[in-house]
Amino acid sequence: MSNSIFNLKDKVVLITGAAGIQGPEHVKAFESVGAEVVATDIKGTEIILDVTSPDSINQAVKKIIDQHGYIDVLVNNAGATGKYATDWEQIIKVNLTGTYNCCHIIGAAMNQGSIINVSSIYGLVGPDWSVYDQAEYAGKPMGAPAGYAASKGGVISLTRYFASLYAPKVRVNCVTPGGIFDNQSETFVKKYSAKTMLGRMAKKNEVSGTLLYLASDLSSYVTGENIVVDGGLTARA
Ligand SMILES: NC(=O)c1ccc[n+]([C@@H]2O[C@H](COP(=O)([O-])OP(=O)(O)OC[C@H]3O[C@@H](n4cnc5c(N)ncnc54)[C@H](O)[C@@H]3O)[C@@H](O)[C@H]2O)c1
Repeated sequence: MSNSIFNLKDKVVLITGAAGIQGPEHVKAFESVGAEVVATDIKGTEIILDVTSPDSINQAVKKIIDQHGYIDVLVNNAGATGKYATDWEQIIKVNLTGTYNCCHIIGAAMNQGSIINVSSIYGLVGPDWSVYDQAEYAGKPMGAPAGYAASKGGVISLTRYFASLYAPKVRVNCVTPGGIFDNQSETFVKKYSAKTMLGRMAKKNEVSGTLLYLASDLSSYVTGENIVVDGGLTARA
């Protein structure tokens, strides 16, 4: 693989929601190929960026441009999951409006490069409620709120919209992960895993490779696309 195609060395990569389960893995993956990563979140990161607040986004962008000069890659990874919110409006605000805010404000500050949005399998298919029977995560009953599904479906549509708007300078794509293993209750893991072709949940670092692909020139002719990383769950009836 030539460096000219896999060209992430010294690229400035802004990741939102970087303090959660997958964020630190994404940070490590980009750093491992020489990118300058700016990890942001509502807490637990040096730069605070609340995706629901245009003021917060503008302040963070100003700091990053002052420090690095530009932003090459934006990963809209922040999300309100069932762990944090079950309320329709809150979930829509973080997942859908938040992704819109970042594509709109940060995308406008990018002259070239790549934006990657993060959806979910529930943006593509409805939940199979049998896997949620008595399921627990972080000490709470697990579910799949309607707002989560609606917001993540919207993220895929927003991806096509912004890909069209920012072409040809900035490519905009989406990655759609399936369930990430994070010590969910045993019966959930067993039932969910059986639904996938690969027979297991994703490891927390298994989405990062697709981000590297979509961020680099390996995907230089790919825009407006959604790549599903779900172990084959949505590909089987
Ligand atoms: N974990 C899964 O099983 C799974 C499956 C499919 C898709 N996803 C998606 O992957 C992405 C990463 O999630 P994760 O798995 O690391 O889960 P996570 O819940 O651990 O991480 C989400 C992060 O987003 C941050 N966040 C919440 N509200 C925010 C706001 N207003 N502004 C900025 N950041 C905010 C949280 O603080 C958290 O660090 C999310 O978009 C999520 O919806 C996760």
